[in-house]
Amino acid sequence: MKTFTLGTSKEQVMRLIPDKQIKIVQLGATKVCVTRDGENFFAFETLCPHRKANLSQGFINGIQEVICHLHEYRFDLNTGRVTSGQCPDLTIYTSELSDEGLKIQIIL
Ligand code: FES
Repeated sequence: MKTFTLGTSKEQVMRLIPDKQIKIVQLGATKVCVTRDGENFFAFETLCPHRKANLSQGFINGIQEVICHLHEYRFDLNTGRVTSGQCPDLTIYTSELSDEGLKIQIIL
């Protein structure tokens, strides 16, 4: 397990990741998607567990789910659980906003 810090301040991370938009960030050898709902940040794997579509092209709805653009399967951003569709759950990475930036834990 390794912890990466995105940005150098809370304000910078808020600017880097606009509300309900999905950005891909490179953390060491791992690419992850990062999004937020207000001050709640979420980090998750970039490839959809269904057929490996790029989830950065998906959408965030109003109930903290990511919707894959390809077949519209939905995943809970808090748990990774698939909430619409039949496929494995999404891998979620623990993230925490602090005054030093956004800390994201990657399982290596
Ligand atoms: S590839 Fe994502 S829902 Fe099918």
